[in-house]
Amino acid sequence: MRTCHTVKELRAALKAERLKDKSIVFVPTMGNLHDGHMSLIRRAKNEGDVIVASIFVNPMQFGVSEDIERYPRTLVEDQALLLENGCHYLFAPDALEMYPDGKRSQTQIEVSGLSDILCGASRPGHFVGVATVVTKLFNIVQPDFAIFGNKDYQQLKVIEDMVRDLSSNVEVIGIDTARNSDGLAMSSRNGYLTEEERNIAPTMYKTLLWAKEQLIANRASHEDIREQAQQKLEAVGFRRDYFEIRAQDNLQTPSEEEKSLVILAAAHLGSARLIDNLRVELA
Ligand code: PAJ
Repeated sequence: MRTCHTVKELRAALKAERLKDKSIVFVPTMGNLHDGHMSLIRRAKNEGDVIVASIFVNPMQFGVSEDIERYPRTLVEDQALLLENGCHYLFAPDALEMYPDGKRSQTQIEVSGLSDILCGASRPGHFVGVATVVTKLFNIVQPDFAIFGNKDYQQLKVIEDMVRDLSSNVEVIGIDTARNSDGLAMSSRNGYLTEEERNIAPTMYKTLLWAKEQLIANRASHEDIREQAQQKLEAVGFRRDYFEIRAQDNLQTPSEEEKSLVILAAAHLGSARLIDNLRVELA
């Protein structure tokens, strides 16, 4: 696996691959890689010839109150994992390479309708930062396919809409969430949890499963399910952010008759903010 730190170096390497008629599959990440990320790399291998991953802790998607310095950086371990899982190129730029004039004078991409709800409401500017950096990365890598996790369901929807709206020539593929054996979604942020909090954390997934059962049994209104779910989370020590039942395709509030739903949860536990979601298809 070859690691490129500059746009110029990566472009030259990928140009040579394209001349050999190779298709390119891209997996963007912020590093501190775990098996969830590796499931994206493994899927990438089935989609095309040359696998490109990126590691960039993107300052533009962190809010002023969010500690970007605290985000774990483990490049050497990440390189070993990527190599082991068959990745061919790693793009690992620094902030100056991505934002030569600083993030403030950077042209921005805002996906309307999706950027200011749910996680976008709790983290103003976050999805503009995500959409902007992913646009730049797509322009640098020019992939045929790009793989994202359903774990960040709203992010996946933002990217899908952005690709459609900007007519980008890339096929976006979403992959199911990789979980620990107790159900907790794998996440770099799980590392912020104390041992006690780590034992509490799977309650988020359990509460999503409970809400899914309620929807299938048609036992209660969406409003009642949401409120009871919040209380279940608070009872074990989570601090509430949101617990929402939304339409799967556009993340808007659905009618009670809507069949394709997604339940989305975000809550704080200790110093970590955890998110998870579960899709539900009603008969
Ligand atoms: P990061 O949090 O590192 O995640 C990189 C990719 O891995 C995302 O597509 C995310 O949904 C996926 N992922 C994370 N945990 C997963 C899990 N448990 N199962 C399956 N997939 C999982 O998301 C970002 O980075 C950034 O916002 C980025 C898109 C790179 C833009 O900066």
